Amino acid sequence: MFSKVYHSLFSKKLSASKAYNILSKTYDDELSKGNIAVFYNSLILNKIFNKLDINGKIILDIGAGTGTNYSSLLECNPKKYIACDVSKGMLEKFISKYPEVESFVVKDEKLPFMENNSTDIILSSLMIGYVKELGKTFKEWNRVIKPEGHIIISFLSPNLSGKRNSRSFKDENNKVLFIENYKHNIEKMKQTFSIFDWEVVDFLSEKVDIRSIDIFKKIKKESLFKEFKEKEIICAFALKKSNNKVIND
Ligand SMILES: C[S@@+](CC[C@H](N)C(=O)[O-])C[C@H]1O[C@@H](n2cnc3c(N)ncnc32)[C@H](O)[C@@H]1O
Repeated sequence: MFSKVYHSLFSKKLSASKAYNILSKTYDDELSKGNIAVFYNSLILNKIFNKLDINGKIILDIGAGTGTNYSSLLECNPKKYIACDVSKGMLEKFISKYPEVESFVVKDEKLPFMENNSTDIILSSLMIGYVKELGKTFKEWNRVIKPEGHIIISFLSPNLSGKRNSRSFKDENNKVLFIENYKHNIEKMKQTFSIFDWEVVDFLSEKVDIRSIDIFKKIKKESLFKEFKEKEIICAFALKKSNNKVIND
């Protein structure tokens, strides 16, 4: 434990793109073993997907990874789905499962493959924790989202204790690697939304409860259930771009 905290403080952290290129090799296998955050994240996202009218809409999934949310979105009958991610490796895994998906690698938070006002919905599921400057990233999202379009952002609760908020994983040689990540305060996030006139339509959160006990058992971490029980694990915003505010540099 001490060694993990020590290393998380002093080891050089990998950028999300480097880390996820390594992780992409084992990502789906790890998720198939069961993942508490992904379980609650999909509960929250499905609630949002059911409330928003996705039928016939264009969706840009930013940080789409290996496509965890793709099949739920397809059930909502979108007109078009576009995936993008900083990790080429994650997108390659995605495309190997769903070759029909159009995908792009994101560099420096830019989305040059998207025209201004060209998407109805932006989905950002469990990726915002890797973004350093939300303002810079949101400015580009604001460019591509249509007026009246929606932005869905789900993230690991910033109320989780520091060590639970640090992202680490084991590589093929069992070495623990840490990923550069950032904890965003919810009030500060709301202030940043207001710069772009993004209205908060909904805020949802999920606490760990008995519904996930089988996953704790499956991953042989049943003893952690007590530590996590009743703690907020996942939060999500559903936002609406209110107008066509132009943001200057
Ligand atoms: C935890 S995974 C989540 C994947 C998927 N959205 C899901 O819900 O399962 C985070 C993903 O975000 C990507 N990512 C991290 N920072 C990003 C950024 N600034 N822009 C786009 N993608 C990013 C990572 O490469 C990774 O694929």
